[in-house]
Amino acid sequence: MAQDVQQREQWGSKLGFILAAAGSAVGLGNIWRFPYLTGQHGGAAFVCVYVAIVFLIGFSVMVAEMAIGRKAQLNAVGAFQKVKGGAWPLVGWMGVLAGFLILSYYSVIGGWTIKYFFWSFTGLMGQAGAGKAGDVFGGFVTNTPEVIAYHAVFMAMTIWIVYKGVGEGIEKYCKIMMPALFVILIILIIRSVTLEGAGKGIEFYVKPDFSKLTGKAVGAALGQAFFSLSLGMGCMLTYGSYVDKRTPLPSSAIQVCVIDTSVAILAGFAIFPAVFAFGVEAGAGPGLTFVTLPSVFAKMPGSSIWSALFFLLLFFAAITSAISLLEVVSAYFIDSGWTRPRAALVMGILMFLLGIPSAMSLAGAPKIAGKDFLDAMDFIASNVLLPLGGVFIALFVGWVWTAEARKEVSNEGTYTFGLMEVWIWICKILAPLAILYIFITGLKW
Ligand code: PHE
Repeated sequence: MAQDVQQREQWGSKLGFILAAAGSAVGLGNIWRFPYLTGQHGGAAFVCVYVAIVFLIGFSVMVAEMAIGRKAQLNAVGAFQKVKGGAWPLVGWMGVLAGFLILSYYSVIGGWTIKYFFWSFTGLMGQAGAGKAGDVFGGFVTNTPEVIAYHAVFMAMTIWIVYKGVGEGIEKYCKIMMPALFVILIILIIRSVTLEGAGKGIEFYVKPDFSKLTGKAVGAALGQAFFSLSLGMGCMLTYGSYVDKRTPLPSSAIQVCVIDTSVAILAGFAIFPAVFAFGVEAGAGPGLTFVTLPSVFAKMPGSSIWSALFFLLLFFAAITSAISLLEVVSAYFIDSGWTRPRAALVMGILMFLLGIPSAMSLAGAPKIAGKDFLDAMDFIASNVLLPLGGVFIALFVGWVWTAEARKEVSNEGTYTFGLMEVWIWICKILAPLAILYIFITGLKW
């Protein structure tokens, strides 16, 4: 295969790898989905369960993916082919498919963040201040040509970064955008919690209510952990294939889990105090982000700046995740002999085309079995492909590839992973059972 002859691309430093992996993990899922789920499912009680799941199951699957990728030095499909063969490459194929589906609609929402960033300066605040945030959002998302144009811009930027390569593209941009994201988040939190009446929002967000901690909430926490940590589709596997043999994988994975979880928890502190301070309805998902928040910003002095900062934050979060999705798919074609520019461009354009029905979905067309296209894509990827991928990756390391996995994770015996046995046990039993549980409970169309 081509990669045996050619030197594989690598991250420039351990920090670069961690920021790129954290860039993949920190995304739209952290900024609107996590805070909302937390508010819904019992505040601090939900956060406790979520954190436990991230560090027990999410962390274990992440190390498993990184180990397979680094051992094989190949993409998600090629890696399973090389280290085991048989039917295992199908797991990689599922990942490639999931990457394809997720990026197609993720880029549509990424496009919205660009529109809202510029719009913050040119009229959005006036309209939102007049109570019309819902109408203007509705007007925008049903204006299909405009939505497609922003989707194209977002995808073009994603293609550009992946086209530039692992070190000069992905790593370089994540090293700029991730710290910037963190700074913007802190500024927004300071602004939000110092507003008068912020306390009620903080209470809504963190007050533990164990009665809301139902089986459904646990399922939601598991599903969210997988999506948020970019697990189950070969993303961490692909990024792991660019890591050098000396980098300790468990400590890198822990850092990625800590960054991802911190950003998710912090996002709630930027959002809820402001929402409650101005007495606006704390709606869900896109509604919260693109309707509620502009109305909140419009009421603050310097509204355009706060709004623009927030949408810039959202854009950074989205694009550093988008590049990882495109990279999973491109890496397969690059390892099969394509040049990087060709792989990034061709796959990016195909995903852009697949995203068009999602871009049109909020304008009413077309539906798949009653769900609009965007929701259907999200459902198939996040509720079916990611959990299934996660189960197989855990089983693979726990039962099939265990001895080699130990060797890879201990850097051929030169690094001591204190929790090795616990990790193997989680991969063998706990992770597959837990994920199977989300899979089954989450399978309601
Ligand atoms: N983790 C990203 C988010 O939270 C989404 C994502 C999923 C990215 C899977 C890559 C792979 O938004």
